Amino acid sequence: MGTNNSKINHAKRKSTDNNYQIISTEQLSAKTSDEFNTKKFKYIEGRRFHNWPDVHYDLPNDETEIDRLHLEHFLLRDVWQSNFSSPIHEQLVSGCNVLDVGCGPGAWCLDMATTYKNSKFYGLDISPIFPSEIKPKNTIFQECQILDGIPHKDQTFDFCHMRFMFPSFDENQWRTYVIKEVGRVLKPGGYLEIAEYKLCENCGPILKRLLDLRCEMMSNIGRNPNIASLLGDFMRDTDLFEDIIYEEKIIETGSWGGKLGEVAKDDIFTRMHAIKPALMNHIKCSGLGITSEDYDEMMNQCIDEFNEYKTYFVTCRWYGKKL
Ligand SMILES: C[S@@+](CC[C@H](N)C(=O)[O-])C[C@H]1O[C@@H](n2cnc3c(N)ncnc32)[C@H](O)[C@@H]1O
Repeated sequence: MGTNNSKINHAKRKSTDNNYQIISTEQLSAKTSDEFNTKKFKYIEGRRFHNWPDVHYDLPNDETEIDRLHLEHFLLRDVWQSNFSSPIHEQLVSGCNVLDVGCGPGAWCLDMATTYKNSKFYGLDISPIFPSEIKPKNTIFQECQILDGIPHKDQTFDFCHMRFMFPSFDENQWRTYVIKEVGRVLKPGGYLEIAEYKLCENCGPILKRLLDLRCEMMSNIGRNPNIASLLGDFMRDTDLFEDIIYEEKIIETGSWGGKLGEVAKDDIFTRMHAIKPALMNHIKCSGLGITSEDYDEMMNQCIDEFNEYKTYFVTCRWYGKKL
C-alpha cells in the first residue's frame, strides 16, 4: 500500500469547459466494447461485480445496485435532513474542493454539486459506475482503488466524505491506512466525515439470522461488521484530527415508520438480494446447508417482522477537523 500515482499518469485529460474529466487510456480505447466489460466486471448468479484482484468488496455494481444506492442516498438525506454534519456550509457556498471516497454512482456528489455550484466535487470509486458524460460541470469522477493510494496531492481538499464503506476495508486497513490516507489529502482546517450504518435493533428472529449470516461472512474476510463504533478512535489514533464528533439517527424500518420506513424496508430487501451471491458462496463453503430457496424464503418471511418487532437501524456520522 501507499501512494501510487501510476493510474493518474496513465490518464489522459479531456477538457470539458472549465473542468477536467480524467479517463484512463484503457477506458478510452475500450469503453464501448464487450472486452472492456469482460475485463472490468465479473458476473455471478446474474449480478455484475467488480473484477479487481485482491479486492474483497462483495456487493454488485449493476443497474439494480446503482438504483439502490441512489434511493438510499435520498432516504439518508431525508432521515438526516442534510447531506453532511461538518460545519463546512459557508466554505461550500464560497467554493472549495470536496472529495467523496468510494462514491459509487455518485449520488452524494451529484446532489451536493447541484446545491454548491462554486465548489468542485471529486468522486473516486473502484467501479466506474458514476456518470461519465451527463453530469454537473463541477463534478469529476475517477476510477481508483483506494488501497493503492488516493491519486491527489497532499492537502488538496477542504472536505473529504466517505459513506457506507464498511464492507470495503478490513479493520486493519481502516485503522492503519484508509483514514490516514484520506487525512493526507485534506488541508489543515478541513473536515473528514464518515457516515455508516451502526446497528439493527428490535430484529425479529429471521432478520437476526440473516444479519448474523452476513456478519459471519464479513468476519471471514476480515471485515468488522461493527466498524462504525470504532471509527472515532481510529480518527483519534492518527493524531491528525481534533474536535471529533459523533451523531446518530434512527431509521424506523417497515410501514410502522411511515413512508420513509417503507423505503428503508425496500432498501434492506434489495440489499439482502445484493449480498445473496456472496452469501450463498459463504453458506456453501461453511457447509451450513441453506439453499438458495431457503434464503429467498427467509427474506420473504422477515418482511413481516419489521412491523411486528418495530425494527430500526441506527446510522451514524463521525466528523473531525484536520489539525
Ligand atoms: C456501499 S457502496 C457506497 C457508495 C456511496 N458511498 C454511497 O453512499 O452511495 C461502497 C462503494 O465503495 C466502492 N469500493 C469498495 N472498495 C473500494 C476500494 N478499495 N477502492 C475504491 N472504491 C471501493 C464500491 O465500488 C462501492 O461503490
